[in-house]
Amino acid sequence: MKFESLVKPAVLTQPVYEPGKPIEEVARELGLKPDGIIKLASNENPFGPSPKALAAAQHALLHGELYPDGGCFALRQKLAAVRGLGADQFIVGNGSNEIIELLGHALLGPGDEVVMAAPAFVVYKLVTLVFGAKAIEIPLTHFRHDLKQLAAAITPRTKLVYVCSPNNPTGTANTEPDLLAFARALPDHVVGVFDEAYAEYDPAAPDLRPLIREGRKVVCLRTFSKIYGLAALRVGYGYATADIIALLNRMRQPFNVNAIAQAAAVAALDDTEFTAKCVRENRAGMAQLEQGFTARKLEWVPSVANFILVKVGDGARLFDALQRRGVIVRPMKSYGMPEWLRITVGTPAQNERLLAELDAVRSS
Ligand SMILES: Cc1ncc(COP(=O)(O)O)c(C=O)c1O
Repeated sequence: MKFESLVKPAVLTQPVYEPGKPIEEVARELGLKPDGIIKLASNENPFGPSPKALAAAQHALLHGELYPDGGCFALRQKLAAVRGLGADQFIVGNGSNEIIELLGHALLGPGDEVVMAAPAFVVYKLVTLVFGAKAIEIPLTHFRHDLKQLAAAITPRTKLVYVCSPNNPTGTANTEPDLLAFARALPDHVVGVFDEAYAEYDPAAPDLRPLIREGRKVVCLRTFSKIYGLAALRVGYGYATADIIALLNRMRQPFNVNAIAQAAAVAALDDTEFTAKCVRENRAGMAQLEQGFTARKLEWVPSVANFILVKVGDGARLFDALQRRGVIVRPMKSYGMPEWLRITVGTPAQNERLLAELDAVRSS
């Protein structure tokens, strides 16, 4: 009997996540030197981790023989102090992706529905399908989550509704009053999940903590993979009422977040000078790309995150041609936007190179 015939039916139809390719893989495939390749495909921080986080990670390695603190005590204490909530209102995950998966473990099964925007962060849909639930996808309006349409799609079978603000892949955000009103109007049987992976880049990022203080069924997600520059270490967190956090904790592996990541994340939260610099640099880099695209008469979507969508025509061809020249960006075909590329804001030199290479491949 084939293994295939033993797996659950959902496995056979499960779509596969396509990550931005690592630099080494592109170098191997195309015979390029890794040093000459820049990756602007996964919304990572081009300025790396904060030096303080790096030092803390190196120090933590000295005790690599010990299991990590499964409860992430120090990191939750630090998050509580920085974000003004209780330590028991945070759960730390192996990236915020893991919290999305824990929500699936805790809440989803066949017959359940999950409402989400399209295009939005693709992992909401992948996790929904893994648990045999149905993804209800609501198109964006003017590249933004349409909160009215999302609310209208909720049925008695809905368990979760995802809102990604700023949204990946568009970089657009919903306002604080709109998000608070949306969350407060959710029916009692629905959990609202608000993904804030890029919130630190947006000076007007909504503060949704009042919802948690009101005891509502919401879970907010954040990550250390973006502005904190720790994507390689895999650490993110969710915050919610203590009773929701306690139930999600039952679903996680005992040592889901490694000790190096925990130490680095604590130190990263302390280095506000570094994050302020990254916000400034990102804004300048965004302006550089916006001006570059405008000068080339290319349409782009105003973004409050650290990436930008630009309409280039044949996105697949330009993605491929850029990659051959050592610039990795993200094609948008799988998001239903074949004419667009999503480009992470890089350092000034990386942005300049991207624009120059774009000229070269557009005219070829
Ligand atoms: C909107 C959004 N949420 C969550 C994540 C996952 O982040 P993490 O690296 O913490 O799993 C990403 C990563 O790209 C993202 O874009």
